[in-house]
Amino acid sequence: MQNNILPKHIAIIMDGNGRWAKKRFLPRLVGHNQGVKSLKEIVRYSSDIGIEYLTVYAFSTENWARPKTEVNGIIKLLFDAMKEYINELIENNVKMKIIGDKETIPENVMELFNDCENRTKNNTGMQFNIAFNYGSRQEIVHSVKEIAKMCLENKVDINEINEELIQSNLYTKDMPDPDFVIRTSGEIRISNFLLWQISYSELYFTKTYWPDFNKSEYKKALEEYQSRKRRYGKI
Ligand code: IPE
Ligand code: IPE
Ligand code: MG
Repeated sequence: MQNNILPKHIAIIMDGNGRWAKKRFLPRLVGHNQGVKSLKEIVRYSSDIGIEYLTVYAFSTENWARPKTEVNGIIKLLFDAMKEYINELIENNVKMKIIGDKETIPENVMELFNDCENRTKNNTGMQFNIAFNYGSRQEIVHSVKEIAKMCLENKVDINEINEELIQSNLYTKDMPDPDFVIRTSGEIRISNFLLWQISYSELYFTKTYWPDFNKSEYKKALEEYQSRKRRYGKI
């Protein structure tokens, strides 16, 4: 793997925790727990090799439709992992950000998210984004509402609405679009993740379940990225 043409921004749909557990006759939450371990390894490695932005899909707006015990279990796992892991992120100069609808999540989770963001806001290393209670359509609706408000307040004229203005009202406003999207578990779909932002991203799908996705699987994906020719409509 050549380090000079690494993607600047990598986005990952961490899928397959449930099936990983099922295959082993274990409860789904054991799979989610194992998934957190993969996440730690991938975050650490991404920061080590100099990735500038890493965005992971941890919980979608649609995932609330799962049984309550699973939803609560996932939230608790993430909550505990963040509490435990925050100091390591600070040590590694990682800047953390939550993308998603923060208004409709449990208050203690929101407080922890805000605390993690605040404590890492001056870090200058990799930016690590966790998409939680995230849905891309919801994000676009949010952006449109913000712009509509500006129009009503006469701060923006309709003719000034352009791609930049829409982008600057998304949760990802301060970051470049992902260069590379990885989805584990064998599903070949996007599931409402960063629809606007991945217009020109390179997509990579692997059958490996997220809890089995390790450094060597990651390197394989990055090598594949390096063999792609990005054209952006040109020849
Ligand atoms: C991904 O694993 C984690 C979340 C969606 C929170 P899944 O829980 O979707 O696992 P599968 O797809 O059922 O195997
Ligand atoms: C996408 O996985 C969401 C996350 C990884 C958090 P899902 O398991 O929810 O997606 P679908 O339902 O298979 O499309
Ligand atoms: Mg899934």
